[in-house]
Amino acid sequence: ANRHSVQLRVNGQLHAVDLDPRTTLLDALREHLHLTGSKKGCDQGQCGACTVLVNGRRINSCLTLAVMHEGDAITTVEGLGTPDRMHPMQAAFVDHDGFQCGYCTPGQICSAVAVLDEISAGIPSHVTVDLAAPIALSETEIRERMSGNICRCAAYPNIIEAIRTVAG
Ligand code: FES
Repeated sequence: ANRHSVQLRVNGQLHAVDLDPRTTLLDALREHLHLTGSKKGCDQGQCGACTVLVNGRRINSCLTLAVMHEGDAITTVEGLGTPDRMHPMQAAFVDHDGFQCGYCTPGQICSAVAVLDEISAGIPSHVTVDLAAPIALSETEIRERMSGNICRCAAYPNIIEAIRTVAG
């Protein structure tokens, strides 16, 4: 098959990968780089389990091709923190039991990290009432911003609590 060599910068490390140009970013991460934190739920952009950060913005990695991301800074859940040094959002999910089976958790956490950045950057959501007000994040606001991340165990109340805690 037609192969393509691509340089991917993931969690601060540059990887040279040889792949079929039709490979999604998600498959490149999981199958070529063996970073299996990002999960494949639907592979169609509907569940958010594959959410990663690209140059600080969240995307569904199942909906984009790896070859399109040469030169981008890609961050997966593995790059946010480790069990010894958790990112505050990871720690908050643990503290608040923001999961049951855990399958959607890496995507939820990457998305939640991006949500706080979107708010600091003044990017409104459909339900934003007043962005000028400091982040007194309402449950509605968090639910709207996190609506691309589905949890089949319905751990939503705890997920929202976790995000609220980090938002302060
Ligand atoms: Fe990408 Fe579901 S696996 S959105």
